[in-house]
Amino acid sequence: MKHNRTRKLLALAFVAAGMSGCMEANHGRYSVGNTPTNFSSEGERLYFTGISSSGEQIRSVGGHPHMQMHGGSCATCHGADKEGGAIMWPRFWVTAPALTEGALEKEHDDGHNHASYDESSLKNAIVNGTGPDGAPLHDTMPRWRMSEESLNALVRYLLGEHPH
Ligand code: HEC
Repeated sequence: MKHNRTRKLLALAFVAAGMSGCMEANHGRYSVGNTPTNFSSEGERLYFTGISSSGEQIRSVGGHPHMQMHGGSCATCHGADKEGGAIMWPRFWVTAPALTEGALEKEHDDGHNHASYDESSLKNAIVNGTGPDGAPLHDTMPRWRMSEESLNALVRYLLGEHPH
């Protein structure tokens, strides 16, 4: 049963968390402790909480048990600092890449090579799991469903809005 399989994966993940000295069930390395208490933008709010200010919960299709353990927002895997690094246990060879402006806008060489993202290719990555070169992203990256408004806010946040 699918359910059973998920439970097994979760159990594995707990064991792994235990072994690495992290016993907290809900707060991994990318702990909620790093979450800002108030958000400077709607996109930032969505990145950390997955819930818009009007209460819309963004939904993911596919994805990974890491999320069930640590909560379902981008920060869970891509980090409070957007530097990525979360290991997609048990597929330990997959890590979440950095989503900083630099990482998204330049071609670079950290094992996640890609052409520069722009607004439309970034949306495509988030919604359809397709990289800027048209190749599918690994399926540990969930495919996201959210309103156009939320998607715009998130993309503005990632590509750099400078409200300050
Ligand atoms: C369960 C963990 C997880 C969550 C949650 C998650 N991602 Fe990802 N994401 C990944 C992984 C793993 C990859 C790398 C996929 C690959 O290597 O093909 C990725 C890749 C990406 C990429 C492509 C980056 C690149 O270098 O090409 C973007 C953009 C992205 N994620 C955005 C988001 C956004 C926005 C959210 C929140 C709405 C989010 N992700 C939530 C795990 C996650």
